[in-house]
Amino acid sequence: MNGPLLEVRSLTVSYGGDSVAVDGVDLVVREGEVCLVLGANGAGKTSLLRGIGGFASSEPGRVRGGRVTFAGADVTGLSPRAMARRGLVLVPEEAKVFASLTVDENLRAVPMSGGRAARRALVDEVTAMFPFIAERLSLPAGQLSGGERQLLGIARSLLLKPRLLMVDEASLGLSPIAVEMVFDMLRSVVASWGTTLLVVEQNVRAAQSISDNAYVLETGSVVLSGPAGDVLGSERVRQTYLGLEM
Ligand SMILES: Nc1ncnc2c1ncn2[C@@H]1O[C@H](COP(=O)(O)OP(=O)(O)OP(=O)(O)O)[C@@H](O)[C@H]1O
Ligand SMILES: [Mg+2]
Repeated sequence: MNGPLLEVRSLTVSYGGDSVAVDGVDLVVREGEVCLVLGANGAGKTSLLRGIGGFASSEPGRVRGGRVTFAGADVTGLSPRAMARRGLVLVPEEAKVFASLTVDENLRAVPMSGGRAARRALVDEVTAMFPFIAERLSLPAGQLSGGERQLLGIARSLLLKPRLLMVDEASLGLSPIAVEMVFDMLRSVVASWGTTLLVVEQNVRAAQSISDNAYVLETGSVVLSGPAGDVLGSERVRQTYLGLEM
């Protein structure tokens, strides 16, 4: 078993006032694993990922307590840019793309490391993983649907070659076929690049095939965690997320 890549201890996130969105969360992600975070709307999933990946100074949220350790270093409260430089990249719930640029230009605008040839090879490698994107390279990104933008956002994040990729609601707004495509793609990233994933996903059925461990959040706290099979097979999750009676 690999050691922890990400260790979150007693993390508390607040948007001001007395209320907290994340309330003393402990979470560990080992190198090479896929970790799933589940929870109802407003449970604090996005706030947890932002608390880990950092809030920009213009954003309202703040880490109010606890510690985030990434690759052995204390990174608590660093900016998203500083986190990305260290290899921790977040694809937000609504991935930002440049609407007036083509899909191809959006990909090439990512500040990739390496020389020109290496950057081109990386774009080709990522494009090959997304047939959907390969077919739309010359289309203005502004003409993509919300779900399609999300796919482009994931592809752009991959160009940063993250060591840990956090994806907030990868399947939001996607058709069932597109959801399958995203999870196939994430699976191939894990297999070929060994990227570690921390994924917030409401579509439990789609996520269960790639997840090693899972956490369930309720009102900012972890109420259940462990191997994905155990968590997703639990009565609480089966009833709440899959609508199944035991
Ligand atoms: N920008 C903000 N300003 C103030 N409060 C916020 C802000 N963003 C989130 N919150 C509050 O923090 C709590 C957790 O929200 P968060 O977005 O983290 O939940 P979530 O689990 O991601 O929900 P969803 O499934 O709807 O995306 C909620 O009570 C929410 O109202
Ligand atoms: Mg959210």
